[in-house]
Amino acid sequence: MTNEIKRFSLNDGTTLPAVGLGTVQIKGAKGVTSVLTAIQNGYRLIDTSTNYNNEGMVGEAVRRSTVPREELIISSKLPGAAHDYDKAILMIQESLYRIGIDYFDKYLIHWPLPKQGKYVEAWRALVDAQKFGLIKTIGVSNFLEEHLTNIIDETGVTPATNQIERHPYFNNKELVRVNEEKGILTEAWSPFGREINDVLTNPVIKEIAERQAKTAAQVILRWNIENNVLPIAKSASSKNQITNLDLFDFELTDEDRQQIDSLDQGEDGRLQGQHPNEYEEFD
Ligand SMILES: NC(=O)c1ccc[n+]([C@@H]2O[C@H](COP(=O)([O-])OP(=O)(O)OC[C@H]3O[C@@H](n4cnc5c(N)ncnc54)[C@H](OP(=O)(O)O)[C@@H]3O)[C@@H](O)[C@H]2O)c1
Repeated sequence: MTNEIKRFSLNDGTTLPAVGLGTVQIKGAKGVTSVLTAIQNGYRLIDTSTNYNNEGMVGEAVRRSTVPREELIISSKLPGAAHDYDKAILMIQESLYRIGIDYFDKYLIHWPLPKQGKYVEAWRALVDAQKFGLIKTIGVSNFLEEHLTNIIDETGVTPATNQIERHPYFNNKELVRVNEEKGILTEAWSPFGREINDVLTNPVIKEIAERQAKTAAQVILRWNIENNVLPIAKSASSKNQITNLDLFDFELTDEDRQQIDSLDQGEDGRLQGQHPNEYEEFD
């Protein structure tokens, strides 16, 4: 088996590397070094958001990198305050200026905010922004089945990706299945449960890792990829970045995957307060 990074194909014909770099809390001058190091370590998909207050930092790393722009996938997200059509188009343009690029490879609606009732309007803006050439691949994040059904029914356009919470204690299996049924690639956010839960020291995962001569982090990333899910793993450290890409020379067994699936705690496993029908974030 080679250690070349696998790619996933999207419903719009684009392909994405099987692991992305998360950038929450990666900021400022130190952040530029971390993202630049990640690019040097082989990352090509970089996940940011207006809400992370680091789009400018990502842009600086992209400018300093020697990797050609067309090899990088720069992905950002629309904040809740910009779900109105005109605001969304202006926000996308503003984000592009902040990063210093003239198109997004991928752009998502960050949260559906169903209580505000504007995510269909926001989706229309992304559909048009794609036509205007501002975005190549359009997708969503934290959309539940009813939100997906509504935007598809209203516009006839299916998102290419849906980035959702997924880690071993909250595997979100039903929504992963819904995405798959609709031809949408699932991206997993907080694949290691952030620092909040202890999946990286869970005995079941550690036992699988020891048997596979890999780390717990690698087992979790591999579990995602083998379930056709693209994990967005945040790491500021070069060592962890390298570990998190070193995934393509081993395979989990069916039993390994089932054991990890069995760690799911349903709604109790969700990171606190992150239910997409409740969570509201505007900036
Ligand atoms: N769409 C959404 O609503 C949404 C929500 C949350 C997150 N996200 C995206 O998903 C990304 C990932 O989620 P996250 O940042 O919440 O957390 P995460 O990726 O689950 O966990 C990050 C933590 O794991 C550590 N880590 C990474 N690799 C490791 C390894 N190999 N061994 C040991 N520890 C390791 C990191 O430390 P070091 O940095 O020191 O390596 C950091 O403390 C975010 O950065 C963001 O891009 C999206």
